[in-house]
Order: sequence, then C-alpha cells, then structure tokens
Amino acid sequence: MNPLTMDPVSPAPAAQPFIEARGLRKSFQSAAGGETVLRDVNVSVRTGEVLAITAPSGAGKSTLLKILGTLQAPDAGTLTYGGVAVDFRDQRQLARLRASRIGFVFQRFNLIPFLDARENVELALKLRAMPQRQRHIQALDALDIVGLAHKCRALPATLSGGEQQRVALARAIAGAPSLLLCDEPTGSLGQDAGQRIFELLQSFAQLHDRAVVLVTHNESLARQATRRLYLHDGCLQGGAP
Ligand SMILES: Nc1ncnc2c1ncn2[C@@H]1O[C@H](COP(=O)(O)OP(=O)(O)O)[C@@H](O)[C@H]1O
Ligand SMILES: [Mg+2]
Repeated sequence: MNPLTMDPVSPAPAAQPFIEARGLRKSFQSAAGGETVLRDVNVSVRTGEVLAITAPSGAGKSTLLKILGTLQAPDAGTLTYGGVAVDFRDQRQLARLRASRIGFVFQRFNLIPFLDARENVELALKLRAMPQRQRHIQALDALDIVGLAHKCRALPATLSGGEQQRVALARAIAGAPSLLLCDEPTGSLGQDAGQRIFELLQSFAQLHDRAVVLVTHNESLARQATRRLYLHDGCLQGGAP
C-alpha cells in the first residue's frame, strides 16, 4: 500500500497536540558575546493544521525550526512528539524520528543539480531500508502528488523555480512524514508559484495525522494558514505583531 495516499483525505477529527515544545531556550556565542535567540518558546502543533510563523530576519525562525526538527538541541526546554519526549543526546532516537516523521522544505530548494527530479526525491528514501523498486514507486507517487510526474526525468536546471520547489516538496513528503517543517519555502518564488506551494502544504496537512509548520515572510500566505504566531523577542505569541 502506498503510505502517501492510504490515509483518508479528510480533516483530522479532533485537533490533537502532536508536537509540544515547552520553555525552549537557545543562545549562540559569537566574538561580540552571547546572544539569546530563543528565550522561552512554548508551542503546540496540532494535527490537521498549517501553523504559520512570521518574524523579521534574524529573529530566530530557522533556529526554532531546526530545534522542532531535532536538527539542533535547545539549551533548555522540552520537546515531545506524539507524547514521547525527545532526548537530544540519543542520536539513534533522533535519526529514527527524522527519517520516519519529519520532512524539511527550504527556501532554496537544495536539489542536487546532476540528479533528475525522481532521483532527487529518491535520495530522501535512501536512508530507509527499502528495496530500490519501492523507492522508485514512492518517488514517482510523491512527484505525482505535486503534479510533476511528467517531469520525473528533468534535471533541476531545466525546471522553473516553482517546479523545483515542488520537487523539493515531493522529496520532503516521499517518506510520508507526519510533520512538514518549511523554512520560507516560497521566499524565492512569485506570488502564483508561492500560492501553489501553499495549497499543496494545505492538502498535506489535511491528510490524517499530519501537520505543517510554515515560516514565511509572505503576509498573504500567513493569513491563509490555520493559525499564525509571531516570534518576538525570543517568544512565540499570537495576536498582532
Ligand atoms: N550556528 C549558529 N552560530 C552562531 N549564531 C547563530 C547560529 N545560528 C543562528 N545564529 C544567530 O541566531 C540569530 C537568529 O538566526 P536565525 O534562526 O537564522 O534567524 P531567522 O531564520 O529568523 O532569520 C542570528 O543572529 C544568527 O546569526
Ligand atoms: Mg531563517
């Protein structure tokens, strides 16, 4: 069965907290001294939602996404996935969590230029013990979901910016993650291509037990999200910026 499409395409019945972050704190040391980027971040991500996070450049959005994606450890605070606490010292737990539950989409696509669209998507599945034939099928399914199955043999340079970002999205969802973390994924796209990506993110969030966290500068997209929060002075808050 195809894990991307086997779930019913209907909103999750009750919005369950899926990820809970409590009291996240993160500082960096530089030549100029210490800088506290995240002071006290508390956030719950619920299934079925696209949670938009906005803030000026340098406010700590990428740092927060990396912590939520377990790529970076906080200095303090807790993170739970489906009620299970993340132990940032346990590399095996982290690797398992990332490979099975988390997908990343970045602003600059990060596609490998000498691999075609399908090979780029397949690369994300190579971390899994999965026969090559299965990887092929899942990569094609993911490209089909983003409307690019017909471009599976195309090299990134021959695709438009919007198409490249859709390949990057296919790569992120190919492993059927529960959570998509998107760091300004429409930042280098025009309004129409950005809107298209946003609509794909919305459809993804509607799949059973899925959620999307979207960091964006795009006001029009942030307004369409299920919920939006602002990162201000190291804390996440609702209401006006
Ligand atoms: N690995 C790092 N080492 C030192 N400083 C960092 C590191 N990562 C981020 N920072 C600093 O933390 C601040 C927030 O960065 P970032 O999370 O990338 O912000 P945003 O994504 O909102 O633009 C910036 O001042 C940046 O220089
Ligand atoms: Mg950033």
